[in-house]
Amino acid sequence: MITPLPHLASMAPYALADLAAAEGKRLVSLSQNESFRPPSPMVAQAMRDASEAPHLYPDPDWSDLRHALADLHGLNAGQILCGNGSLDLIGCLARTYLSAGGAALAPEHAYPFFRIATETTGARFDTAEETDLCADIDALLAAVKSDTKIVFIANPGNPTGTRRSGADLRRLREALPATVLLVIDEAYGEFADHLHQPLFDMVNRGDTLVLRTFSKAYGLAGMRVGWGYVPGPVAAEMRKVMNPNNVALLGQVAALAALKDQDYMGATCQETAALRSRFVTRMRTAGIDVPESHTNFALLRFASAEAAQRMDHALRSEGVLLRGQGGAGLPECLRATVGVADDMDLAAELIETQVLEEMS
Ligand SMILES: Cc1ncc(COP(=O)(O)O)c(C=O)c1O
Repeated sequence: MITPLPHLASMAPYALADLAAAEGKRLVSLSQNESFRPPSPMVAQAMRDASEAPHLYPDPDWSDLRHALADLHGLNAGQILCGNGSLDLIGCLARTYLSAGGAALAPEHAYPFFRIATETTGARFDTAEETDLCADIDALLAAVKSDTKIVFIANPGNPTGTRRSGADLRRLREALPATVLLVIDEAYGEFADHLHQPLFDMVNRGDTLVLRTFSKAYGLAGMRVGWGYVPGPVAAEMRKVMNPNNVALLGQVAALAALKDQDYMGATCQETAALRSRFVTRMRTAGIDVPESHTNFALLRFASAEAAQRMDHALRSEGVLLRGQGGAGLPECLRATVGVADDMDLAAELIETQVLEEMS
C-alpha cells in the first residue's frame, strides 16, 4: 500500500474557492481577492513581444525583475527572491526552517496558507488571539514558545483586512527572540503604503523578511509572481529548496511591465479604495459589522455561522460568489473582494434584500 507521511494524512487540504455559478446566472466572482481591473496595458504588449520564445527556459535568477524592484524600492537586488506567487515563497520558508519538533506562530485569523505550509513540514502551527479582528502584538509575544521558529504576520491581514502600524511591527521584532524569523507578508501592501514608512529596512537585521506579490494591486494574479526582500543568508538557504525555474517567462515579463507603470497601479489602489468604501458604507448601513479594511476586500460579519451560510446561499443562487471564512476561524463571516462598480452594487442589493428577509 502507498502511504503518505503520517502528518499529512491528518491534514485538511487548502480550501479552494468554489467557483460554480448558479444555473443560467452570470458568474460574479468576488471570492479570490483579484484586482477589479486588468493590469496596465503595457503588460499585454510586453507579453505579446515575449511570446515568441516559449521554447526557452525563463531566467532562473529573475535578473531584470529583481533589478527593477531594487531600483523602485531602493533595495539590494541580491536580496530579492521571486516566487511562483508569494505562496511559493511561503512554502519555501516553511521547508527551509520548519520540521517536526518546531513551530510557527501567527495571529488567530491569519491567512490559512500559513497553517498549510507549516503543517506539511510536520511542524506545529500555533495562533495568538487577536483584538477586534486585528493582530495583537502582545498576544503574539506571549505565545512565542521555545520551539517557535517563524512568526507569520500578514499586514494588512487576510481575511480581516485590518492592519498594524509600522511602529507596532518594529516593536514586535524588537521583542521577539533573535532565533525567531519574522515573516511580514505584505500581499496587500500597496493598498496601505501611504499609511506608513516602508519596512524593508528591517530586513537588514538578518532575522526579518518582507513578502510582496503582483497578484493584487498590480492585477497579475493569473501570472503567479511574488517576491520577497530577504536577508542574504536566508535567501541562500531558500534557494536550495526552491524550484529553480519557478516563475514562467510571461510572468516575469508581465511583472516587469506592470512595475514600470506605477501611475496605473496607484490609480488601481485609489479606485479600489473608493469602490470598497462605498460598499462598506452600504453594508454598515444595513447593520452588518465590517472591520476597517486596508485591502481590496471587505470582511462581512454576520450574527452567526448559519446566518453567513444563508447569505452565501442567497448570493450564490444569483451567481454572486463571496468566500466563506471557516478555514480562518471565522465561520460567521463572508469576505467580499472589491469588483467593478456594477458587481458591487448587485452584491450590495442582494445582501440588503437578504438582511431584510432575515429580519421579517
Ligand atoms: C496574505 C496573503 N499572502 C499571500 C497570498 C498569495 O498570493 P500570491 O501567491 O498570489 O502571490 C495571498 C493571496 O490571497 C494573501 O492574501
